[in-house]
Amino acid sequence: MVVRTQLVAFLAVLGTCIASGSLECGRRVQTHAQARGSELYGRMCAVCHGANGEGYKADQAPTLRHPEFLATVTDEFLRAAITRGRSGTTMSAWGTERGGPLPRGDVDAVIAFMRTWQTRPQLQQDERTTTGNAQRGAATFAAECAKCHGAHGTGGPHVGIGNVELLTLASNGFLRHAIRYGRAGTPMAGFGAPLGDAAVEDEIALLRTWQAGSPTTPPLAPAKPPPIPLGPVPLNPKGPEPVGFRMHPQTTGADIVHHELERGAKMALLDARAPSDYLNDHIKGAVSVPFYDPDPYFAGLPRDAWLVCYCACPHAESSTLAAKLIAKGFKKVTVLDEGLGVWRTKKYGTKTGIDP
Ligand code: HEC
Ligand code: HEC
Repeated sequence: MVVRTQLVAFLAVLGTCIASGSLECGRRVQTHAQARGSELYGRMCAVCHGANGEGYKADQAPTLRHPEFLATVTDEFLRAAITRGRSGTTMSAWGTERGGPLPRGDVDAVIAFMRTWQTRPQLQQDERTTTGNAQRGAATFAAECAKCHGAHGTGGPHVGIGNVELLTLASNGFLRHAIRYGRAGTPMAGFGAPLGDAAVEDEIALLRTWQAGSPTTPPLAPAKPPPIPLGPVPLNPKGPEPVGFRMHPQTTGADIVHHELERGAKMALLDARAPSDYLNDHIKGAVSVPFYDPDPYFAGLPRDAWLVCYCACPHAESSTLAAKLIAKGFKKVTVLDEGLGVWRTKKYGTKTGIDP
């Protein structure tokens, strides 16, 4: 039995060495860019996409290390996805030109790190223009795809495929491969076999009509170089203590936070997302304290007032920020339950731009 366990362990190590393509098992040499990318990825992306790019850690963020994805995606696609984000989702614009924290060199470092996950060489793709029929494609889409990707490819429970940001960068070969073969191990099945190649072509034709019908450039977030300076905190410095706030890891409901704000209670609202999201839309009165780099803000935050962290996720980024605040000795820290989404639905007041 002992011998068998050891054998299994040995084979597992051997497997890892072979998969990593390195004879120096477990000691893979990293370039400077890969090391930088690894640090940034761990701090900014792992909260949703998982420490190893496995996906689905929060917010249905897709796999980034999937062999089919990495073998078919271009660096240009990845650069655009990371720099611009995907509007209407929790995927922030991370590039400085969109108000995010990452200059071009850092975006490329993250991509260099992601490429270390790649186990298969880049595939020669079938880039033919499609001869599919968009009308037939629409019927198939409604029957087969809408339940996961949303009626027009956005707003569904899984990755958006109808948004212009993705479609501008996704080649026919990339789409064809994803729809034909799917992504084994994820909810995305291959449709080439059950539906046939003609139906796959119809889907590509449909996606291209959506792309053509979209505005050519997605709305730009105003490009203000981050980080955003800390605004006035707390709100209502002379106000009463809030009632009903619950210490992290418990959360506090939007109704309670809103009621206490209306009552003039003393608190600070901290927007944990990337500044690009803050510029687009944030809770009125909130200040920007990004979850991945809160250090410069600690000294300016009040220790005697409740700090209410929120994101859109609904909890992933805000909980990360709350844990970092508590580690720094802050004693009154809570997370807004259900985040910005519910705040917007209840029309409790949000605002655009750099001012709280
Ligand atoms: C059961 C849910 C489900 C259904 C049904 C489904 N998909 Fe997907 N699809 C997914 C998921 C999940 C992913 C992302 C997988 C990952 O994490 O790599 C995906 C990925 C994709 C991608 C790649 C997008 C990218 O940026 O990586 C395309 C294109 C796509 N789907 C098209 C379709 C089409 C067309 C149909 C219908 C014929 C369809 N899907 C049906 C769940 C689904
Ligand atoms: C708050 C959660 C969250 C964080 C943090 C996050 N992402 Fe995402 N990401 C998502 C979601 C959700 C999507 C899918 C959006 C959609 O439906 O279009 C996505 C999509 C992507 C895509 C496109 C994948 C595809 O199949 O088309 C890439 C690439 C990506 N993210 C990389 C990153 C990198 C790199 C970082 C860190 C700098 C990061 N993400 C941080 C949630 C997140």
